Amino acid sequence: MTTIIGVLVSGRGSNLQSIIDHVESGYLKNVKLSVVISDVKDAYALERARMHGIDAVFIDPQAYGNKMGFERKIIGTLRLYDVDLVLLAGYMRILGSEVIQVYRNRIMNIHPALLPSFKGLHGPKQALEYGVKVAGCTVHFVDEGMDSGPIILQSCVPVKDNDTEDTLAARILEQEHKIFPEAIKLFTEGKLKVDGRIVLRREK
Ligand code: GRF
Repeated sequence: MTTIIGVLVSGRGSNLQSIIDHVESGYLKNVKLSVVISDVKDAYALERARMHGIDAVFIDPQAYGNKMGFERKIIGTLRLYDVDLVLLAGYMRILGSEVIQVYRNRIMNIHPALLPSFKGLHGPKQALEYGVKVAGCTVHFVDEGMDSGPIILQSCVPVKDNDTEDTLAARILEQEHKIFPEAIKLFTEGKLKVDGRIVLRREK
């Protein structure tokens, strides 16, 4: 069975690119990247989608009276494409409860920190300022909280003495580009079982 994927983005889209590459290389099988939705009109991620024949849709948050109206438009668009799995790949808004209810345990986010540490913005900067010696990234299902949903995969990298926010973020990003496709693969192969906030990997 094919898993139809919709991706929400706001920016440059390097994670989107990695997912596209993993589909095109055949690592991700039985997957269709159907639509990329952005809340930012000139997000480069939309351009990346178009270059690979994926529908790219800008939904203007200002065009709706409130967050609910805007998010209903997102839900409507995802439904139009029969999306099974929603990916947040650098989507810079917090999703409201309606979207989460419709796609419970079918929305994945990539976060540039080892959750539950350093939620919110600027994960690498927070890690540096705290002085941790290991940093990393997390793929998790999205729940109503901020970066608080069940954890699917994590990967860690060393923090070096001479790291800047940029060098650490770049080292983390390399791992993001690996574990996001890996988590999608586990999902599409039906190998993820969610039990409360614990995600188990099961063999089919
Ligand atoms: C990544 O660091 C990701 O962890 C965070 O937003 C950034 C998106 O980067 N959620 P990109 O647009 O995928 O290049």
